[in-house]
Formats: sequence, structure tokens, C-alpha cells
Amino acid sequence: MKLGVNIDHVATLRQARMGLEPDPVHAAVLCELGGADGITVHLRADRRHIQDRDVELLKQVISTRLNIEMAATSAMVEMAASVQPWQVTLVPEQPNEVTTQGGLDVILNEGHVRQVVSRLSSLNIRVSIFVDPSLEQVRAAHKAGANAIEINTNGYATARTEASQAAALKAVEETARMGAKLGLGVLAGHALNYRNTGPIAAISLIEELNIGHSILARALFVGLKEAVSEMKAIITRR
Ligand code: PXP
Repeated sequence: MKLGVNIDHVATLRQARMGLEPDPVHAAVLCELGGADGITVHLRADRRHIQDRDVELLKQVISTRLNIEMAATSAMVEMAASVQPWQVTLVPEQPNEVTTQGGLDVILNEGHVRQVVSRLSSLNIRVSIFVDPSLEQVRAAHKAGANAIEINTNGYATARTEASQAAALKAVEETARMGAKLGLGVLAGHALNYRNTGPIAAISLIEELNIGHSILARALFVGLKEAVSEMKAIITRR
């Protein structure tokens, strides 16, 4: 199983002073040295953390794969067209949210999502869609022409009882099975940490996890390279 590291928080720290450090490009290189298989950034419309300059430089500097999370807007599609990342992940985006609040409602936005996927595919960019654990949303993502889905693990990660966590894990597993059955790439992520990632990593149909906050939080104490390699050990031990 592969590990994509979301490095948005490095840019958040830099933007706290609107300065030059810490640089997400330096962070990406350390993540790769720690064993990351890919680097993920969310370029938001308000540019609150990652900047255009970051995605442009990351594309040039990293030796793994660049995954850009973005809203399905025409401005973002044109940005992706010029940067040419390995993959775009379509996410819903609200101006004042602290982080992505849930999966994209592909059923509700079917026509628009299909148009955006088609334009990105014509640019040879792989398209993944962030979806909640729902068989209907996976079918809609497939119908819209997506290459992959990223299953939202937030419900699993924030479940308060063992029973609700087990149910959420089962929902992730069933969603992964549906994605694989339809020939989609299957990724997962959101709110995964060093304690709760093991059971998700045990779902063999999931090919990659996207993890940010917990790795960057641990990096403050053990260093980024070490924090990435500890997470990589958790997901490859399975
Ligand atoms: N996947 C998606 C689609 C996200 O929006 C995020 C958060 O930016 C993540 C994964 C990573 O979540 P976390 O930072 O909680 O690990």
C-alpha cells in the first residue's frame, strides 16, 4: 500500500507570517526521503496555505507523484492544465471550513462533475474523486468517468464507540470493494493517525492512503522524515 503525504500544514505555518519558511518544497523532499510514494496539496480558492508557486515547484522538484486536491471549478481546471500533476482529486470546498467537510456529492452534481472529469482526462491527468463511504456515490463517480475514488475515512476515525467504528470500517471496506469491482483505483484518507490507520491499511483493495495532519503533528517532535517513515511502516506492515 502506498502513502501519499499531504503537506498543506507546512504552507499554513509559512503563511502565518506571510514569509518564505518553512517551504513546502523542502518538506516534500524530506517526505520522499522518509518513504512517501506521493505528495498531496490542496490548492484552495482563497490560497490560505498552498500557493500557485508551490504546486509549480513541486511538480518540477519531486521525484514521486503530485496529487492536487481541488474544487471542480474552471479556474482550478486551468491551473491543473498548466501544472500537469499526476493526479487531481476533486473535493467539495467551502470558504470557511477548517478542513474538507466530507465527500463530493457526485450524484447531485453529476453533469458538472462529468464535464470536469472529461476535461482533465483529455489533458491526460488521472482523476480521483473524494467520496463518502457510499456505494451510490462510487457508482456515480464511475459513471462520471473518474479513474479513482478516495474514500473519506473521517467517519471511521472519529467514531466514538467500538460498534460505530466497526460499522464505519465495514462501510469503507464495502465502498472499496465496489470501487475495485468497477475498475476504479481505490484510495482512502482523512483523519487517519498512528493509532487508527492499521485496520484501514489492512483493507487490501485500498492502494494508497493520503495522510496529512497526524504526520505533520508528529514531525514537530521527531522530524518529518522519521514521522513519514513511522507511518509508512504502519501501512506496509499489513
Ligand atoms: N484526503 C482529503 C481529500 C483531504 O481533504 C485531506 C485533508 O486535506 C486528507 C485526505 C488528509 O487528511 P488529514 O490531514 O486529516 O490526514
